[in-house]
Amino acid sequence: MDVQALKKVAEQMVAPGKGILAADESNSTAGKRFEKIGIENTETNRRAYREMLFTAPNIGSYISGVIMYDETLRQSTEDGKTFISVLESEGVLPGIKVDGGTYDMESSPNEKLTKGLEGLPPRLAEYAQMGAKFTKWRAVVTIGEGIPTDANIRQNAKDLAAYAKMAQEAGLVPIVEPEVLMDADNTMEKCGEVSERVLTAVFEELKNAGVAIEGMVLKTNMIVPGKKSGETVSPEQVADATLALFKKILPDNLPGQAFLSGGQSEVDATANLNEMNKRGPYPWKLSFSYGRALQDSALMAWGGKRENVALAQVALIERAKKNSLATLGQYQGE
Ligand code: 13P
Repeated sequence: MDVQALKKVAEQMVAPGKGILAADESNSTAGKRFEKIGIENTETNRRAYREMLFTAPNIGSYISGVIMYDETLRQSTEDGKTFISVLESEGVLPGIKVDGGTYDMESSPNEKLTKGLEGLPPRLAEYAQMGAKFTKWRAVVTIGEGIPTDANIRQNAKDLAAYAKMAQEAGLVPIVEPEVLMDADNTMEKCGEVSERVLTAVFEELKNAGVAIEGMVLKTNMIVPGKKSGETVSPEQVADATLALFKKILPDNLPGQAFLSGGQSEVDATANLNEMNKRGPYPWKLSFSYGRALQDSALMAWGGKRENVALAQVALIERAKKNSLATLGQYQGE
């Protein structure tokens, strides 16, 4: 395992002024997004949509890497350039989601575990050979009556660590993504408590598995109240709670933490990240790995129509640029 090579890529992923575009929606999640704009969930439409994103002019000025889905990693532009080569030519690192989605935990069916460890090494080897530089695995933790259980948190942490070790052995930087879901009715305090249990377990298991912390990127949630709580919080409050937790738990040799947006609005996701970086620096970079918070406006502007591609790309670049500023604590609002 070449830790120095992994470290170099991890640092590139969270370089100041840059962050990650999560465009690794599974085909079924892509369908949910396309429903909003009334277009059919076909391979052709998914390819056209991703081509719009990846060929946005100047994408490499703000985006360090793109996370793709298996289908996407194998696709090409209409004029025959592979998406991998298009991203590489802009200096954007190609990445790949390698988990197989979630399933209900047998002993606690309201909680989820993540599929995909079986047969993972040969898949990683193929992705590395194709040109991927990093990978992602997402574990979700649900807040509710009597949950999350310690058993769920522990199993998710063990699976994340096992995946991360395999990715590093294949020469790929693992994004380790434990996501505490924000759609319940819990308080912000509860999100903080659960996130602390989760991150504690994740770093214990990463250590047990022998994962090189300097050769990975963390992707976790901000500390926010559940969407159904009716609580509204300021970027200052989100930054206070999130930073207090990170300072307690994140090891100094972690290159960076790239937030997921998790259902926050585009503007909230940017403003919250900015507030944290205004108060930096920290031993680790705080960056973004947003899906919805980078794509929502672009998806709406595109609407499945070729004639809207340029406008949609402007919308994507606008969000990417604002989040780039937020990694520097220099975002001035909309
Ligand atoms: P969101 O930013 O839309 O939460 O997506 C990020 C992601 O990759 C979730 O796994």
